[in-house]
Parts: sequence; C-alpha cells; structure tokens
Amino acid sequence: MIGRLNHVAIVVPDLAAAAGLYEESLGATVSDPVPLPDHGVTTVFVELSNSKIELLHPLGENSPVANFLANNPSGGMHHVCYEVQDIHAAIEHLENQGARVLGDGKPRTGAHGLPVVFLHPKDFCGTLIELEEVA
Ligand code: CO
Repeated sequence: MIGRLNHVAIVVPDLAAAAGLYEESLGATVSDPVPLPDHGVTTVFVELSNSKIELLHPLGENSPVANFLANNPSGGMHHVCYEVQDIHAAIEHLENQGARVLGDGKPRTGAHGLPVVFLHPKDFCGTLIELEEVA
C-alpha cells in the first residue's frame, strides 16, 4: 500500500543553524525558510536525490510541534511521510487493521497542498506516520 518515502520531518530549535548544518556540514541543497502559517510551522526543505528532509520550527501560538520541541529541546525526528495512491482506501484498510488515524480520521490538506492523515505512533513502533496521497 505505501509507496515512496516522501519526507522525514525533523523539529529543530534553530532553523538557520539546522539549515546551515545540512548545507555546509552535510553538503545538501536546502531551501530558504518557508512559513506555513496554516500548519503552524516554518519549514526548510532539504532536497535529496531520493527523498526530502523537512526541518520544522514552530510558528505562531498553537503550533503542532511546540510541545515536541519543549520535550526535546535539542530537536529530534518528528515523523516520516509515506506516499499512497488512494488515501481513502488506505484509511479504510488501516481502520480494518485496528490502527488509529489521528484527528477526526478524515484527510486534510497537508504542507504540500495534498491530502494527508497521521497515524497514531503507538500503533506503529513509536513513530508518527504521515500518509500523503500523490497523484
Ligand atoms: Co510531513
């Protein structure tokens, strides 16, 4: 059911410092910071030949990553995102398997303008999983 690894998201305390590490120490191509106010994060996209890394920093009052950063002050891996072809079919399959879809269980528009859902980390080896529907 899952296809490509779309991205790995890493929450960081200092976006400029993290972007610098990826650019200078790791020699990667990084974007300028992109504010995504609807998602409560500012993101730096790190382009890899086979996937992406998204460096996330809280933006605004009710950022979904603010608690994570409070609990992990030096940052850490937040979620992995796998691509699916049909998100509604994926949700139905997962619910039949007993997995919990977070929120109201319905897809919402993710950071790339595509439908996404998140799966409960306790159901998947302690890892928050995002599924993104790609055309
Ligand atoms: Co993501």
